[in-house]
Amino acid sequence: MIDPRVSIIQDRVGDINRIIAVTSGKGGVGKSLLASTLALLLARRGRSTGLFDLDFTSPSTHFILGVRETWPIEDKGIIPPLIHGLRYMSVVYYSKNRAMPLRGIEFSNAFIELFSVIKWGSLDFLIVDMPPGIGDAMLDLIRFVKRAEFLIVTTSSPLAFETVRKLISMLNELEAPILGVVENMKMEGSVVKQEVLRLGVNFLGEIPYDPVVENSLGNVCELLKTVFADSVNKIIEKME
Ligand SMILES: Nc1ncnc2c1ncn2[C@@H]1O[C@H](COP(=O)(O)OP(=O)(O)O)[C@@H](O)[C@H]1O
Ligand SMILES: [Mg+2]
Repeated sequence: MIDPRVSIIQDRVGDINRIIAVTSGKGGVGKSLLASTLALLLARRGRSTGLFDLDFTSPSTHFILGVRETWPIEDKGIIPPLIHGLRYMSVVYYSKNRAMPLRGIEFSNAFIELFSVIKWGSLDFLIVDMPPGIGDAMLDLIRFVKRAEFLIVTTSSPLAFETVRKLISMLNELEAPILGVVENMKMEGSVVKQEVLRLGVNFLGEIPYDPVVENSLGNVCELLKTVFADSVNKIIEKME
């Protein structure tokens, strides 16, 4: 039987111009920080932007943005609140800061439920902060939302890049569009850029290790003044 919610998803995301899923092979490479900064900077450029934290096991964007006391509004669906100029949604609103282990079908069920009830309205960009790796979230995004472009984050470490190689080949196999790769916490002598280009994938730019970015977590004004944010601004120019 076809789940009626699945066909509603296309309506719900129908007025979103671009859906960008920030993904990676491994955790801890800077996806959430990049996704949050990217969304904030797009909004500052006057683009109507949404941010959706879809990392069920370790949602972090509410912490980065310093979200407090704001809740989604229910109105024949769920309307994401406006936070720092962004339409913001996170699984944390439903997990109440507890871990939310979900397996296979349970995950898909939660995924479909969220995408079928959230009313994003008209957006230029929806940035999705993904859990790490090739898993349910990525497969469901391709299957049910269909038009997401994948922005892959890696560090300079061969350990991170080896998983990116697999991720790229998986996305190619599934014919999912790859927007490009961002190299975060770039180290000297790294060969990530050459390797990415050799795989025929766009290299969107690099972000240095920024020793003060941690101090800005929870404070958006400070975050946007960092070298990290400057680097993300340069990446945006290559995305458009
Ligand atoms: N360029 C950077 N310089 C310094 N610290 C960074 C940088 N990028 C990410 N971090 C830090 O690394 C940690 C992991 O980042 P996070 O965005 O949570 O990764 P992920 O979402 O991929 O698991 C966080 O503490 C974050 O503040
Ligand atoms: Mg994260």
